[in-house]
Amino acid sequence: MGSAETGGILLTGGAGRLGTALRGLLPELTAPSRAELDITDLSGVEQAFANYQPKVVVHTAAYTNVAQAEIEKALCWRVNVEGTRNLVRAALGYDLRFVHISTDYVFWGDVGGYREDDPVGPVRNYYALSKLVAEELVRLLPDHLIIRTSFRPSPWPYPTAYTDLFTSQDYLEVIAPQIALALRNLHRIPHSTLHIATERKSAYELALRTRPDVQPARRQEALVVLPEDVSLDIGRWRGLIANWDSGLLP
Ligand SMILES: NC(=O)c1ccc[n+]([C@@H]2O[C@H](COP(=O)([O-])OP(=O)(O)OC[C@H]3O[C@@H](n4cnc5c(N)ncnc54)[C@H](OP(=O)(O)O)[C@@H]3O)[C@@H](O)[C@H]2O)c1
Repeated sequence: MGSAETGGILLTGGAGRLGTALRGLLPELTAPSRAELDITDLSGVEQAFANYQPKVVVHTAAYTNVAQAEIEKALCWRVNVEGTRNLVRAALGYDLRFVHISTDYVFWGDVGGYREDDPVGPVRNYYALSKLVAEELVRLLPDHLIIRTSFRPSPWPYPTAYTDLFTSQDYLEVIAPQIALALRNLHRIPHSTLHIATERKSAYELALRTRPDVQPARRQEALVVLPEDVSLDIGRWRGLIANWDSGLLP
């Protein structure tokens, strides 16, 4: 999927939504397919690290179906927790920076405006639990960066959107370039946790931007318990890019 040069950036989940966007933005990424690098297979992960000798690992691979995770808990745990643990185990033997893509769902989600250092949990659903535990595993590594974010494909892919669910999520074409910018400037990020998102809004407001016929709905209609407000404070990220002359700020 990507070139197999050593000493570069190794991407997990390169065929996923975010992974595909990042590969388009950063062609230098090495992105083995799931067949080449199954994160649930420790010896395969160790072999991949030995082959690629990465200086940076960007971990986007995950079980991401939030509703289905309530039914497939074991699979969700295996990929999100055990898969991340395998990567962390392998990474401990290398001098590298480990970038882990996480979610706003690690917060309880009643007040919103969460800052990077606010306490995480308790969580509302099983997917969120698995992602929270994965974060804690990544914190075992001396040089890590946890990026909490949230994104949707464009146009809005559902006929309805929740009016009572507030987040800082945005469309992939807005979020992916920001994550790519962070990856290009890792040496200028002195933090171990970073929120990359946009302003607080309801899911319905976001949906209307790309799907004017979207119908309003309520969180209670979802197949899984969802938080009311997991919006993220993005001051840290804004502060960083303000000094980078990135062209991303208005
Ligand atoms: N989407 C969101 O709104 C959102 C919000 C916050 C955070 N995130 C996080 O952002 C990251 C990317 O999300 P996404 O929406 O781009 O995910 P996605 O489209 O579901 O892609 C996930 C990728 O992980 C791969 N994968 C699954 N199990 C694997 C395994 N055992 N070994 C190797 N690869 C495996 C999948 O491979 P296959 O292609 O073979 O299935 C797929 O390429 C995830 O960590 C997710 O938790 C997403």
